[in-house]
Amino acid sequence: MIKRPKIAIVGAGGNVGAAVAQWAVTKELGELVLIDLKATAAEGRALDLTQAGAWEGFNSHGFVATDKPEAMAGADVVVMTAGVQRKPGQSREELISINAGIVRDICKNVKQHAPDAVLIVVSNPLDAMVFVAKQVTGFPRERVIGSAGVLDSARFRTYLAMAAGVSVEDVQAIVLGAHTDKDMVPILSTAMIGNVPVAKFLSPEKLAEVVANTKKGGATLTALIGTSAWLAPGSGTCLMVEAIVRNQGRVLPCSVELCGEFGVNNAFVGVPVKLSAKGAEAVFEFELSPQEKEAFAASVAANTELMNIAKTFL
Ligand code: 2OP
Repeated sequence: MIKRPKIAIVGAGGNVGAAVAQWAVTKELGELVLIDLKATAAEGRALDLTQAGAWEGFNSHGFVATDKPEAMAGADVVVMTAGVQRKPGQSREELISINAGIVRDICKNVKQHAPDAVLIVVSNPLDAMVFVAKQVTGFPRERVIGSAGVLDSARFRTYLAMAAGVSVEDVQAIVLGAHTDKDMVPILSTAMIGNVPVAKFLSPEKLAEVVANTKKGGATLTALIGTSAWLAPGSGTCLMVEAIVRNQGRVLPCSVELCGEFGVNNAFVGVPVKLSAKGAEAVFEFELSPQEKEAFAASVAANTELMNIAKTFL
């Protein structure tokens, strides 16, 4: 039998997990296994998605939906979206005391049941949870990857496109650093629209506004919706899954352990990586502006503080 990639989504009863499943099934990325602490939540998401197939033209009756972690056995990719979500007015960092334990326990299951998987972490506070995942699984760094830069960069590109009145498709821009409102680093020095520097389109004041909107992008949505966003987070995460299962070699901002890149060791923040079947196969460095270097250093320092808190849950 021809083997299709096996993709396990943990926390699939929640909005982000369900969104990853939705994009993955429409892109026909592989066999989906939906896992949630609440079996009925996973079953409900699977059934809902299966019924969408009647009109969307995909055949997904083979979904596994369960509360059993062993269902992830042999997974090529495990996507971890489990954990509590932000409430309006709450920061991602405030979730650490609940989510660190949840992520730790799931990672023990990943290590046991899917020891060869590439693990994509989506739970918040993101970069500290990637650290927890790396510590608990003991996987090499290329197989423990945080999904946040794809989301923050999508928001950055969107706000740039809206401000400049151009198509988002032609905006090339990246967000590095931590996935926190305070410390993410939207990179203006290399941002382009149709290969033309963004400064040709927008004044310094407008660009500052775009950066501010990007940084508070998640909080804005949480205030509007009443819980944290899921469509753009799910879409960005699925893009990473696709890059891995199709061995695409996409270069996307992801959170990984830094081993000397950007002059940093022992920290987990967003940097440009090459995503292939091996996971985060390579990390790329480039010259940041002095202001961006400073912001990146602050981001690393904030991550160190959160990692120290996370360590108490290991
Ligand atoms: C966000 O920024 C959920 O952290 C995610 O929307």
